[in-house]
Amino acid sequence: MHDQKISSLQVENRRFSPSESFQAQSSITAQTIESLQKLASQDVVAFWEHQANELHWFRKWEKSFEWNYPFMKWFQGGLLNLSYNCLDIHLSTNRANKAAIIWESEPGEIRTITYRQLHKEVCKLAEALLQLGVKKGDVVAIYMGMVPEATMAMLACARIGAIHNVIFGGFSEESLKDRINDSKAVCLITQDVAQRKGFFIQLKETADIAMASCPTIQHSIVYQRSATMYTPMQAGRDHWWHELTANKKGNIAPEQLDAEHPLFILYTSGSTGKPKGIFHTTGGYATQVRYSVQLVFDIRETDVYFCTADVGWITGHSYITYGPLMHGATVLMYEGTPTYPTAGRIWEIIERHNVTILYTAPTAIRSFMSFGERYPLASDLSSLRLLGTVGEPINPEAWMWYYSVIGKNNCPIVDTWWQTETGSIMISPIPSVTTITPGTATAPLPGVIADVVRSDGSSCEINEGGYLVIKHPVPSMARTVFGDDERYKQTYWSEFPPNEHHQGFYFTGDGARKDEFGNIWIMGRVDDVVNVSGHRLGTAEVESALVAHPDVAEAAVIAKPDEVKGNALIAFVTMNKTAQYDPKLMNEELRQWVGKEIGSIAKPDEIRFTEQLPKTRSGKIMRRLLREIVASGTISGDTTTLEDFSALESLRKQEEE
Ligand code: WTA
Repeated sequence: MHDQKISSLQVENRRFSPSESFQAQSSITAQTIESLQKLASQDVVAFWEHQANELHWFRKWEKSFEWNYPFMKWFQGGLLNLSYNCLDIHLSTNRANKAAIIWESEPGEIRTITYRQLHKEVCKLAEALLQLGVKKGDVVAIYMGMVPEATMAMLACARIGAIHNVIFGGFSEESLKDRINDSKAVCLITQDVAQRKGFFIQLKETADIAMASCPTIQHSIVYQRSATMYTPMQAGRDHWWHELTANKKGNIAPEQLDAEHPLFILYTSGSTGKPKGIFHTTGGYATQVRYSVQLVFDIRETDVYFCTADVGWITGHSYITYGPLMHGATVLMYEGTPTYPTAGRIWEIIERHNVTILYTAPTAIRSFMSFGERYPLASDLSSLRLLGTVGEPINPEAWMWYYSVIGKNNCPIVDTWWQTETGSIMISPIPSVTTITPGTATAPLPGVIADVVRSDGSSCEINEGGYLVIKHPVPSMARTVFGDDERYKQTYWSEFPPNEHHQGFYFTGDGARKDEFGNIWIMGRVDDVVNVSGHRLGTAEVESALVAHPDVAEAAVIAKPDEVKGNALIAFVTMNKTAQYDPKLMNEELRQWVGKEIGSIAKPDEIRFTEQLPKTRSGKIMRRLLREIVASGTISGDTTTLEDFSALESLRKQEEE
């Protein structure tokens, strides 16, 4: 157990209630929430059954919930298809010709895809996958940028019961290769190039390097984003998307899948070196994602919903693809960097498309803030009615800026806490009901039983720091770590195992406290996972990338608070005794190296070379000491297990220089 004391000095007294006009337009009232809470407290499984009934099922489930610590199953025996729930259900309504996706490319092209068209394109690709021999239960890797085809690829997999494994387009060939091989993907869907910050990102070229070391890949499907680029295609393996789908009818029946049929694997960082393949299934995931969109985004028929996440992260799965489409909403998708070519781009997009809901990350908000108010003030943002954030705690200053400069003091902000593992939003305000205090995600949604506890599992007092846990499984929780049940058990379910009082708590890895109003304040990770620009990184992952460099002997990576990015990464590196190097050049070389091993997002902001790293007698690197050195240059607490103080002294000297 991570037994450090968690303390917080944050005090925030501002409170914001939903405006009368927001309340008047919402169908969700305080009574709605009360009755949901009541149902959930009487019988939480019956509560989720009630929500599952909102989906379309080919056959209703036989068993609503099975708990075999730490493995859960929801709605077994039920048959459904998630692409059917996102597409087909709308075709017989007047949503058929409604825009499902409005896409704006970075250079400014606009494409509108209706539900009918999206259904057709998804069916065509699904047929193409079947033709290539991809079967139900096979894994399909998706390595794409922000184009509607990424959504189509996910839905096509869901239609035939293939399991998608989306790999963020910013990852390097090494990361791509590892994720393909770990999941044993048989097919890779990619695109020639993606466009970002005015540059072409060569996705197919990177994919080619990766695929050369991926023995399980039999086929790749390449979406042609650029009309002009030359793209080498390997005969037999590589197929152009447009050629493969050209002669398809565009209307294939969806597979009727068991609720527990796997929907996707999504790799995420953990506290050890190897990323974990978070494994999600169909029925429970769909149930809770659908429910959360209804409650948290208060979704309405006329909404134009804009989420700035990338499809490569869980937010892009649940809240760009599946959630809004299940509700028949219009999703605004933007290809590029929100501050390109000017810092006003994102606000221009909102004005151009009359966006009503904006869902983004605190790091993005801080970056928008840093350009000043003149950019948002230059656009008409009056279409906005609701704002949201995700990914890390939002500092009250950024919250106030978002609220007043973007929302004009008129839009509630939903600060949503959740994780790749929970699949959907767990803690969030209900915009028409909750009185919000900047900086807290407020309270768990009805049906979610969350608490802040001590290491013995007992509930903390008001404002006492502790560990955030979920006390009852929820339908959209990850079922396992792909191929590693033991790691799933160890990581999430071993800190608070079942005892005479409870059936085991899910451990989130986050520290938190609960205030006198019941608001939960997230205080950050208590493990070695850090949030950099809203992306989740394992410091161990960056360390193992560094030590893979031939000249590096040892590395320890820690996070340091950063005004814009939330956290910056500082790497302490010990070089091999034989290595000859110029620290300045090596600094850059190692940053590039990490970029190549993992991706640019993981490049350390700073590298410090050291003769030795401080260690315990058992040889564990004492990262706490490194953190303290960086934070203050002072050392406190118990250092009697230190092997060699000289290491600390020389690190401290560097700090003072
Ligand atoms: C952090 C992103 C504070 C938290 C959906 C969590 C947050 C991790 C919030 C999951 C929030 C996410 N306030 N912290 N509103 N949302 N986090 O898997 O530490 O990329 O455990 O999922 O992000 O990151 P992940």
